[in-house]
Amino acid sequence: MKVNVILTPSNLDELSFSGKTIVIIDVLRATSTIVNALNNGAKEIIPVATVEFAVKVSGGMFGGLTLLGGERNTKKIEGFALGNSPLEYSSRLVKGKSIILYTTNGTKAIVKAKFSKNLYVCSFLNLSAIADHIIMMDTDFEILCSGSNNSLSLEDTVCAGKLISEILKSKKDLELSDTAKASIALNKTFGKNLHNMLSETEHGKLLIENGFEDDIKFCSKLNTMNAIPCFSGNVVKLLVRE
Ligand code: MLT
Repeated sequence: MKVNVILTPSNLDELSFSGKTIVIIDVLRATSTIVNALNNGAKEIIPVATVEFAVKVSGGMFGGLTLLGGERNTKKIEGFALGNSPLEYSSRLVKGKSIILYTTNGTKAIVKAKFSKNLYVCSFLNLSAIADHIIMMDTDFEILCSGSNNSLSLEDTVCAGKLISEILKSKKDLELSDTAKASIALNKTFGKNLHNMLSETEHGKLLIENGFEDDIKFCSKLNTMNAIPCFSGNVVKLLVRE
């Protein structure tokens, strides 16, 4: 089973994902928000790559039960119902709803990887559920870190390393790429206290500056949800397990 980590999607084109099994990570905060929204009963998330498309999609499709969510520079976009704070996505607000989501890096990365054969959404919140599913699939896979503005972000790479380390507990024979080995090493160095690690990253510091300290706490919770969000047919939904 071969494992690779893509540190940022910026140099890749959409076709490079076709036929692959991809696990996508944007710990702060897009994938944590998606996992929490679906875990709280949202019907589906429609990730989009531009604000204009988000507004267009929200006009009439999906039977009126839609909410627009997302951020620019970490803040809620004018006219949108929700920002990108996972804590906003409570069951009271999202149950049964289709949520059109735009974020600076995370949803763009999902849209870029849309030709993947299998595409799963991972955060610290649901890491062991994703690990168990990948172990069960027994297939080569790549972890796509959303990164930040065309560059590596520590929190996504640490999460990738933690996911691989979890899978290695059951699958000793993983063939690791250099970036996979580097991610494991980063997790060993920075992954012991997730709350401290997230607070000290560039994006973590920006979120704290902008008043989102509670999001850091929330996104650092490990394995609190069993959700396996899966992208298919332009929407992310929870995988229905037999
Ligand atoms: C992103 O997609 O870049 C992030 O989720 C930004 C954020 O913290 O909202």
